[in-house]
Amino acid sequence: MAIFNKENIKFAKSWIKNPKRMGTFLPLSSKVGKKMIHSMPKVSDNGLILEIGSGSGALTEFISSSNNADKIICVEIDEELCKILQKKFPKAIIHNKSASKFNEYIPNDILNNVEVIISSIPFMSVGKTITKEIITSCVDVLKSNNGVIIHVAYTPFVPFASYGMKKVFCKSVWGIPMTYIHCYKAI
Ligand SMILES: C[S@@+](CC[C@H](N)C(=O)[O-])C[C@H]1O[C@@H](n2cnc3c(N)ncnc32)[C@H](O)[C@@H]1O
Repeated sequence: MAIFNKENIKFAKSWIKNPKRMGTFLPLSSKVGKKMIHSMPKVSDNGLILEIGSGSGALTEFISSSNNADKIICVEIDEELCKILQKKFPKAIIHNKSASKFNEYIPNDILNNVEVIISSIPFMSVGKTITKEIITSCVDVLKSNNGVIIHVAYTPFVPFASYGMKKVFCKSVWGIPMTYIHCYKAI
């Protein structure tokens, strides 16, 4: 796919408006998406996948290629990117909201079935309060479901251990910039 397509231009516009929240001006590459999906555990028949910070759906495409789209719940704060997600993944549940305290608006009967959380929230730049609110909500869900979070970032440093989470693995994807696929579980 060409780098300067409509979707990527919208993504870059969102970055110009709010660089700290976006973290990057281009969506994650398909190389990263492929490695992420190979690292992701299989979900059960009733299991669901919660993706936080879905952007324009670069990772969602890979998640939906190996799981039914109606198993995916996306949370994305940027309204323009949500419109792209809604068009591309009409069967997914899409929340145009902050992932902070997502457990206050996603019903329990859905959260109880979330087995994997996929994140690409730029924790290094969104600030401590938002990071804390997002990760504590993730810990609550993962603890009761014995699930994992897969977090994709351009840094090997992630804050999950400070919230009592245990590292399962960290895989690197070579390229510029280097990308890291972190997997943690709540204990
Ligand atoms: C690094 S981009 C990754 C986008 C996409 N997942 C990809 O694969 O390219 C981070 C995304 O997280 C979103 N984001 C940042 N803070 C958020 C928050 N508090 N709640 C929900 N989404 C957030 C941004 O709007 C952006 O789309």
